[in-house]
Amino acid sequence: MSGDVPRSLRSRPAGPLRGTVRPIGDKSLTHRGLILASLARGRSTIREANPGEDCRATAAALGALGARVAETASGWEIDGTGGRLRDPEGPLDLGNSGTGIRLLTGLVAGAGIAATLTGDDSLRKRPMGRIAEPLRSMGASIALREERTPPIVVRAAGRLRPLSFQLPIASAQVKSAILLAGLGAEAGEILVEEPGPSRDHTERMLAWRGVGVAREDLRVRMRTPAPPLAAFDFEVPGDPSAAAFYAVAASLVPGSDVLLEGVGLNPTRTGALEALASMGAAIEAEPREGAGPEPIGTIRIRAAKLRGTVIAGPLLVRAIDEVPVLAVAAAAADGETWFRDAGELRVKESDRIESTAQLVRSLGVEVETGPDWIRIVGRPDWTGGTVDAQGDHRIAMSALVAGCRAAEGVRVDDVRPVETSDPRFLATIASLGADLS
Ligand code: S3P
Repeated sequence: MSGDVPRSLRSRPAGPLRGTVRPIGDKSLTHRGLILASLARGRSTIREANPGEDCRATAAALGALGARVAETASGWEIDGTGGRLRDPEGPLDLGNSGTGIRLLTGLVAGAGIAATLTGDDSLRKRPMGRIAEPLRSMGASIALREERTPPIVVRAAGRLRPLSFQLPIASAQVKSAILLAGLGAEAGEILVEEPGPSRDHTERMLAWRGVGVAREDLRVRMRTPAPPLAAFDFEVPGDPSAAAFYAVAASLVPGSDVLLEGVGLNPTRTGALEALASMGAAIEAEPREGAGPEPIGTIRIRAAKLRGTVIAGPLLVRAIDEVPVLAVAAAAADGETWFRDAGELRVKESDRIESTAQLVRSLGVEVETGPDWIRIVGRPDWTGGTVDAQGDHRIAMSALVAGCRAAEGVRVDDVRPVETSDPRFLATIASLGADLS
């Protein structure tokens, strides 16, 4: 791929996928790196950052809150505020980013400043009561539209109180909002308990920067207030969620052999790889010492015949963002695949239970959905067709992966949402041999 990307794109079978790539920088970690650097004293660098629109929106918002945020060749250079954020002049627009708006709401509430946080049409439909409730219990003043959705209006409140909170759903965004809000809280301890293993990047990064954070099973404890943060240099690992697209593509296209380098191998993010392995995928992961708070490694993936599986409970939580592309793998597998306990998918960038089912159906594959489940009956040969990405980057990328195998290819009505998380996706998959036109 080169030059301007057309709005609508078709991928079609074109022989094996081969080569070595470093997936784009991790989106979750880039958000967190930017936020902690903005709180630190002095100049931090975030290298190999995710350059997508979501993280750019967070960077711009942090600039409006008083950090000096400058783009570099591979990421960002940030002069932090030393913990003294200021009221922004206008609303903070987090675009499509659920992580951006939820983490920054926690940050702003904890900083004792006033701000309005909003986003695009999709983000303005997503539930925010889940962060408002614990933050209000800490003493924050938060108003939502119809008590549910953005815009989120945070009014300046005094110092927050630490709290003990049991999350009704496993959510790294809610957990992180509470921890970030608590950084300047009165002396005490914050305890967050989750029903499942959501990603633990915030806890890891805070502990790496010297904040008193302890993790045991599904509990996180943080001593408050946190000590001042010193500036840091952070190299962002490759995004395992981005890697999953190449892993599924390589599994499905006969003769493929792909090496993914520098990928984050945090166990709270490797659910998709484990699910693929349980389907019979030929995956070898080789961890290596990383310098920062996150484990990284290399993944080799070769084409293999897949079989159906059940992805439920904690495994589903650890593969929450990869369900659309795992559904593509399931569509080719021998037998049935069930995704269960997946109600959260209904409130992602699209209703991912229905948008994923629609994608699978467009391949000519049998699929059924319920309130919190998807059932797919795989078949080896697909026809293919057209997919409405519904503005959702992960649906668009999953559909293009499917097109590498579908007899007639798959056309995605609008691929522009890939810019949200991976502006390099089209070029990268084309470099491995995918035919996009
Ligand atoms: C994210 C957490 C997940 C995930 C999202 C990124 C994060 O959401 O779906 O894409 O960076 O904290 P929840 O854990 O809130 O469901």
